[in-house]
Amino acid sequence: MSETSERQYDILIWGVTGFTGTLVYEYFLEHGNEDLRVAVGGRNEEKIQKILDNYRDRYTQKVKKTGVFVCDSSDEKGLTEIVSKTLVVISTVGPFARYGEPIVAACANMGTDYCDITGELPWVNRMDRKYTEIAAKNKAHIVSMCGFDCIPSELGGLMVTKEIKDKYKLETRDLKATFFEYTFSPSGGTIETMFDVKLEKNIENDTYAYIERKKGIAGLFSMLKMFRVYYDRDFKRWQSVFPSAFVDIPVVLRTNHFNKYGSKFDYALTSSSKSIFGSIITTIAVIGFMTSIYIPIFGSIIRKLLPKPGEGPSLEQRVNGHLDFRLIGVSAPVSEKQPESSKKVYGRINISNDPGYLETSKYVFESGMCLLNNKRNILGLSKLKDEIQFDTQLFKPGVGTPAVSMGVPLLERLKSKGFKFQVSDSPSIFA
Ligand SMILES: NC(=O)c1ccc[n+]([C@@H]2O[C@H](COP(=O)([O-])OP(=O)(O)OC[C@H]3O[C@@H](n4cnc5c(N)ncnc54)[C@H](OP(=O)(O)O)[C@@H]3O)[C@@H](O)[C@H]2O)c1
Repeated sequence: MSETSERQYDILIWGVTGFTGTLVYEYFLEHGNEDLRVAVGGRNEEKIQKILDNYRDRYTQKVKKTGVFVCDSSDEKGLTEIVSKTLVVISTVGPFARYGEPIVAACANMGTDYCDITGELPWVNRMDRKYTEIAAKNKAHIVSMCGFDCIPSELGGLMVTKEIKDKYKLETRDLKATFFEYTFSPSGGTIETMFDVKLEKNIENDTYAYIERKKGIAGLFSMLKMFRVYYDRDFKRWQSVFPSAFVDIPVVLRTNHFNKYGSKFDYALTSSSKSIFGSIITTIAVIGFMTSIYIPIFGSIIRKLLPKPGEGPSLEQRVNGHLDFRLIGVSAPVSEKQPESSKKVYGRINISNDPGYLETSKYVFESGMCLLNNKRNILGLSKLKDEIQFDTQLFKPGVGTPAVSMGVPLLERLKSKGFKFQVSDSPSIFA
């Protein structure tokens, strides 16, 4: 096994044969640093070679330099050997509760940084409890949820609360965000995962234990509140439940635990509609889908109609997708005697392609790069050509959320790469 500083590769894209894994590799080929030493991996060598062949003519040099690792996700010894040859792993192999633990364990043991695109909170919760100490001891950052779940909530929340702190020297009391407009078309891997998550319900379904005050009755009440349909005067649209809220909210609350946005901080995440009927239909659809997950007969019918693993939105759907994600942060009052003296800060994230997969692949790749630059810096390795270094250091190693482990350096990195994150003290940014 090589010393950390002598590893053969900078980044391993694990699960390159999957729908999202291929997009991550494509993003690297189109936009990645020429000097980057990249390897790809999966369980099926023939499929991996086919992916490389598809890109060989267009990106000859990068494909030629790409390393290949073949291993099953259950082969702990094989994975340990692989991750000891790279500085950072980007994993897209899911469902993560089914396939994800051995590579997390290997990274934590080998001091390899790791990021992924899971939205499976019970699994992340379990990885956090099992591996944070060992990862910290071996100086590995283990960061899940670096895709559509939960980058907009996490980095949007960081951006808005930071503005409140920097500009007004105040804590944030309430943060609310809405998927104001968006397109979403699920991949087969996501469908497979959604039906898989329930398998952990009896073991680890303690998402709201993620933060003390969301346990028990308080947790149940917050959960029921998420199904309300109401008009929001700030967003000027009807609001209803958004499925990712069950993941994003606990993750942002968990982040607050470390980042200390506010001692009474709370987060709400909804989906916007132009009419009350739109919001009611969204609510019925979400409840219907969630119910079908737990009623096998409905579930099997629905699954037949939806994409299978390896499938996902078409090129046209990916290119024509979009997201307008809006946030409003409300500070603690300037004076407790004047409850009206709170300050408001507005945030907006715009995506002009498919947020679920194309943007996810970009987010996770840039997260991997953020971890890599930090790792190379710590190990005293030369700076990669054209890579920006940010003054702020990454949070200490261990298992963490994106806004805790990478935080400002990731936000700044994404902004510097043209990702649209805006913040203002004026609602005019919503115009
Ligand atoms: N939260 C988010 O924002 C977000 C966004 C996108 C995706 N995701 C999640 O990411 C995961 C992947 O989604 P996807 O649509 O890309 O799925 P997919 O197309 O089905 O890809 C799954 C990948 O896992 C690999 N794999 C499966 N079993 C394996 C094993 N035993 N050993 C090694 N590799 C194995 C597959 O290899 P083969 O090709 O050989 O089968 C494939 O490369 C899902 O869990 C999905 O929910 C989350």
